[in-house]
Amino acid sequence: MSDKKRGLIIVSNRLPLSLKKVDGKYESSLSSGGLVTALSGVSKSTNVRWFGWPGSNIEDPDERKIANDALWENGAVGIFLDEELAHSHYNVFSNGIAWPILHYQSGVDFNEDAWKAYQKVNEIFADTVAQSAADGDLIWIHDYHLLLLPAYLRDRLTKAGKHCPIGFTLHTPFPAEDFWRALPVQKELLSGVLACDLIGFHTDEYKRNFIECCARGLDVSVSHDGGDITYGGHTAHTGTFIVGIDPTKFTSALSNPDVQSRIGELEEEYKRKLVILGVDRLDYTKGLVQKLHGYDAFLHQHPDLAKKTTLIQVAIPSREDVKEYQDLEREISMLVGKISGTHSTPDGSPIVYMHHSVPFTDLTALYRIADMCLITSRRDGMNLVAAEYVACQGGRFGVLVLSELAGAAAFMSQGSVTFNPSSVQQMADAIYKAATMGEGERRAGFETLGEFVRTNTSEKWGETFTKVLAGFAGS
Ligand code: UDP
Ligand code: G6P
Repeated sequence: MSDKKRGLIIVSNRLPLSLKKVDGKYESSLSSGGLVTALSGVSKSTNVRWFGWPGSNIEDPDERKIANDALWENGAVGIFLDEELAHSHYNVFSNGIAWPILHYQSGVDFNEDAWKAYQKVNEIFADTVAQSAADGDLIWIHDYHLLLLPAYLRDRLTKAGKHCPIGFTLHTPFPAEDFWRALPVQKELLSGVLACDLIGFHTDEYKRNFIECCARGLDVSVSHDGGDITYGGHTAHTGTFIVGIDPTKFTSALSNPDVQSRIGELEEEYKRKLVILGVDRLDYTKGLVQKLHGYDAFLHQHPDLAKKTTLIQVAIPSREDVKEYQDLEREISMLVGKISGTHSTPDGSPIVYMHHSVPFTDLTALYRIADMCLITSRRDGMNLVAAEYVACQGGRFGVLVLSELAGAAAFMSQGSVTFNPSSVQQMADAIYKAATMGEGERRAGFETLGEFVRTNTSEKWGETFTKVLAGFAGS
């Protein structure tokens, strides 16, 4: 079958659209986060169907049908889950247990009921996808909510006589073995993923960690070059695939009259200011508490610069039913109040904090006018905000100040100012360095970063992964 005709099924927990019922009617809004951003380039292709949970609970079968009709207009198929099951799978296991372990957070309590819910949801996804897949379709599964799905799916497809190459991409880090094995069901999760033909990671480090975990936890054999893992008679191939953004989406937005006028307004508003921008989901992995401490130290240590600096921080609400996220929100609000209270003068406050999503027009205008983008992740699969900032800067040569613990640092250190986010002093120094850097150095950094962002697009990532995956059609 030619690759043009071959169908591509994308499966992720989160669909690109979230549904909400407003006044008795379903309204959809674009979901937040890097996974949706990365896949939006891939899903432009006509032969793509995207399966996932629409983020809301709809019990009534007739209503589910209406909602699915609305999703299907965008090539998406909703997998509906009962509220309690979705809660245990998404909030308790995926985001309360798997997410923190993948991001090196210790002290996670295991929960048997949530583990059962995780298995159940992966089975429901497997039933739906196996039923809809045609023989020969490529199936590309995403992220830590669905680690068991490859094995469940392989089993169902084989019984149905369908041969479909199965790929998986993890959008988070994969931790070192001594950390990962704290999870009592780690072996089950590894063997779930190993049913794939192709497993993709964002960096070589994550891939190496995964292979090491398989080698120590399961009875596998690993090829000499380290890329292939054979388990139970099946070989899974692993690889690093650099994920990116669609830079033209940003560069073309910049010439849009609405964005232009927003840029003009913001430039006027901040004309005498040094603008530092932060754009993060409100998540402990993003190091927002550390960011505020580092910024506070910078303001204390450089009073002359403090007078003319504003940190504009967008904190996108995320996973608000999980306790750690609720606690974090309170802590951040308190710290923002403290910084504002300490450093504000009649001329203004050194911090603008937005705890809500921002429209794309504002986002691109902010990326454009910011003198610096500050990314303080304590751990981060990749971090696409770094690439979006670079794409929007054009000839302004702002500075990317990037945590060395974000996946993006594996590719974007050259051209950025990097630091370790656990050190308040390193962060304050990095902000100072970026604030005082000469144009020559900023320009040189931007040339390197711009080249990386233009070359490693989401489209290229999708094409490369699916091309390699299609190679397993005959195996
Ligand atoms: N973003 C968003 N809503 C906003 C502001 C930004 O969805 O109000 C997007 C942002 O443009 C970026 C994504 O959220 O594409 C964040 O991706 P990143 O990889 O940086 O982190 P993740 O949220 O996936 O951990
Ligand atoms: C990260 C994860 C994605 C997730 C996104 C937003 O990027 O890797 O799988 O979709 O965060 O989080 P949410 O819980 O809202 O889907």
